[in-house]
Amino acid sequence: MCAAPGGKTCHVSCMMKNNGLLVACDKSRKKIEAAQKRFIEMGATCVVPLSLDATKIVNKDDKEWKGPREIIEGASGLRVKQFFPESFDRVLLDPPCSALGLRPKLSIQSSLNDLIKTSEYQKKFVNQAVLLLKVGGTMTYSTCTINATENECMVRWILDIYPNMKLVPIGLTIGTSGLSNVGLNSVERNMVRRFDPSDDDQDMMGFFVAKFIKTG
Ligand SMILES: C[S@@+](CC[C@H](N)C(=O)[O-])C[C@H]1O[C@@H](n2cnc3c(N)ncnc32)[C@H](O)[C@@H]1O
Repeated sequence: MCAAPGGKTCHVSCMMKNNGLLVACDKSRKKIEAAQKRFIEMGATCVVPLSLDATKIVNKDDKEWKGPREIIEGASGLRVKQFFPESFDRVLLDPPCSALGLRPKLSIQSSLNDLIKTSEYQKKFVNQAVLLLKVGGTMTYSTCTINATENECMVRWILDIYPNMKLVPIGLTIGTSGLSNVGLNSVERNMVRRFDPSDDDQDMMGFFVAKFIKTG
């Protein structure tokens, strides 16, 4: 979800060795068209690029459940209507964020209110991602911001709102634990990974990643 310009999608397609189906959706038609060219150049043949609003991606109305492949067969250009609940084994959610981790960044125009609004918007994507996942499936949530409201606080919100979403270790030895005093206990903080551009040892842009399993 939120796949353009497509860097993470290309990486995942390599990890999948082009086996299976990798749906890459982004609201911006222009951006997903550019990403489609990139997928072709990279030989990412398992990727199906779609122009879709991920805040409205789940079809909760139609009674007759259809799988993703059937829905994609009925696609017109880069568009499909929606997918049904519990359609996907894995969801990588990389929603629009305040991008406070991007470098070089010479000035920041966002107000505190903008940051709060961004995290509220991200919750709409999370709600849809949880619905889309099969039970037993994994959701990876990432941002390129250092803002705790969009990172550790979002993890706390997900755990509180969705008792069926279990936080699991991300399995990376690079980066650091999540911040303290923003909602996560020490065990939870160790399961997520945070990358801070002000940390010279990491020499990375700002990034945050957390992984969940849907247990029910
Ligand atoms: C952080 S970027 C994604 C970067 C991408 N995952 C990558 O690694 O190359 C966020 C993306 O979300 C897209 N976006 C914004 N609102 C959206 C929506 N409602 N539905 C789907 N995509 C959306 C933007 O067009 C933008 O490309």
